[in-house]
Amino acid sequence: MMRGQPNFDQIARPYRWLEYLTLGRALERCRLHYLPSLLKRKQALVLGDGDGRFLAQLLAQNPRLHADAIDTSATMLQLLRQRCEALVPKTHTRLTTHQADALTYPLAPPYDLIVTHFFLDCLTQPDLETLVNRIAPTLSPGALWLVSDFQIPTGPMRLPAKILVRALYLAFRILTGLRTTQLPDHATPLKQAGLTRIAQRQRLSGLLITELWQRNPDPQ
Ligand SMILES: C[S@@+](CC[C@H](N)C(=O)[O-])C[C@H]1O[C@@H](n2cnc3c(N)ncnc32)[C@H](O)[C@@H]1O
Repeated sequence: MMRGQPNFDQIARPYRWLEYLTLGRALERCRLHYLPSLLKRKQALVLGDGDGRFLAQLLAQNPRLHADAIDTSATMLQLLRQRCEALVPKTHTRLTTHQADALTYPLAPPYDLIVTHFFLDCLTQPDLETLVNRIAPTLSPGALWLVSDFQIPTGPMRLPAKILVRALYLAFRILTGLRTTQLPDHATPLKQAGLTRIAQRQRLSGLLITELWQRNPDPQ
């Protein structure tokens, strides 16, 4: 086991159904919302994609893309690979999977796409900052970082969102041993690392967001 990591093996198979049961198709819609903007990408780093529902679609719709997928869960990676192989011919030539901690695994740049769907919210603020500072220098000019996450919105949904997020963290603590207890802020470290948010879509009154960030051009 790596670095006191949570273990998602036990919930890997029911994960999809647990998700549909709690939030319907809302997470799926977030993951796929910016897929049409990713069709020119060539080299992706996909962190904690879980059972691979997003990555299979990305590889299927962008036949020129190669991807490295990193996840600590062997079962999640197995499901991811099966799902990609079922949908995409010659997956083995385009997909590499690594059972590893995204915070320490040696990266193989340059990447023009990073994907973190509902993954950064598994990290503490210091770990998230470490991750962003490791990855940002590996990005090619104009590279995109696709982030989906929970957030606590302002307005009448604030209290229900706080209660739901707290309940989700408690459930993940019981089921996987996840130690994180509050949503980290990804926007500040991404900005500090030289990325700009170029698009954002919210769902469920702001409880869910999906965002596209782009690496700023190098100064002349
Ligand atoms: C909450 S699930 C999200 C799965 C999927 N991306 C989604 O959109 O639902 C988090 C995933 O990240 C993986 N994970 C958690 N911490 C990790 C780490 N430090 N390094 C790599 N993978 C990690 C888990 O095994 C799991 O597959």
